[in-house]
Amino acid sequence: MGVNTEPGPIGIAGAGRMAQALGRLLRERGEPVVAVASRNLEHARAAAAFIGVAEAVDYASLTRRANRVLIAVADDAVPLVAAALAEAGMKEGAALHTCGARGPEALAGLAANGVSCATLHPLQTVATPEQGMAALPGCAFGITGEGPAAAWAESIAALLGGRALRIAADRRPLYHAAAVMASNYVVALIDAAAMLMGAAGIGENEALAALAPLVRASAANAIGLGPVRALTGPLERGDAATVAAHCSALAAGIPPSVRGLYRAAGLHALEIARRRGLSEADARKLEEILRKGSDEDV
Ligand SMILES: NC(=O)c1ccc[n+]([C@@H]2O[C@H](COP(=O)([O-])OP(=O)(O)OC[C@H]3O[C@@H](n4cnc5c(N)ncnc54)[C@H](OP(=O)(O)O)[C@@H]3O)[C@@H](O)[C@H]2O)c1
Repeated sequence: MGVNTEPGPIGIAGAGRMAQALGRLLRERGEPVVAVASRNLEHARAAAAFIGVAEAVDYASLTRRANRVLIAVADDAVPLVAAALAEAGMKEGAALHTCGARGPEALAGLAANGVSCATLHPLQTVATPEQGMAALPGCAFGITGEGPAAAWAESIAALLGGRALRIAADRRPLYHAAAVMASNYVVALIDAAAMLMGAAGIGENEALAALAPLVRASAANAIGLGPVRALTGPLERGDAATVAAHCSALAAGIPPSVRGLYRAAGLHALEIARRRGLSEADARKLEEILRKGSDEDV
């Protein structure tokens, strides 16, 4: 492989939230970030200004300035950007992408040219570049690949005080499904809870403020005590009448997606309750209540 293992100039491919947050964190920690590339030069200029580098270029020009490229574009665009960099003549060095579900195979166009390729997925949610800069240091990074690119990925994880998680290429969809559940689905659960509060007559802002201590304590307990010790509530106690009352109340005027979420999350909470020692007779009764009418829900 024509791999240059000397740490060389770094180019950022992509101008979105992750590209900006990671690019600036690397630059502020003394890494030689030299340029930002995007399809849209205006986006590249704005990202370069945020990161603090002078050069905003197109993908072809990036290969003339950097021999290490961090690709942080929309998941479906990763192979396209890799192919564009390969076509522009990137033939050595290393490339990383930040997509969670895919391994280095998404960079096949570059690997075929002899570029060392790996995945560096920050296991963190980045809603804005500023928030990402605050949240990324100390997070875990899902890394797949070998050689200089994987070593570079591990060095970035270490530089940001994070944890390097080695993920087998064929397990990445499972790993990423876990990330989605821990992040996006928590958002979905909070939104559904706020909608039910709304149906109970409490406005969204007040509902979110009221739910906040409960959400924080539940997450802290699940992580600190483990899910089995953290679980409380009617499923854990075997309170069938309470769960039946919830299901009846959820039937009228509540969106099917919220009803489905209540039932699906309830069935999994019931599995935790079983692990915690709930009797099989109580568990079966609760399961029957939760499954009743579930075919109508999505
Ligand atoms: N945000 C998160 O919480 C998070 C967390 C972990 C990992 N990631 C990963 O980070 C990567 C970027 O995500 P993001 O949240 O930063 O996205 P984003 O803010 O929406 O930015 C997306 C970027 O992708 C580019 N893009 C979109 N379609 C393209 C195409 N067809 N060809 C070339 N470029 C294209 C856009 O380019 P233009 O500027 O040219 O429009 C833009 O720079 C993704 O792989 C994502 O899985 C994100």
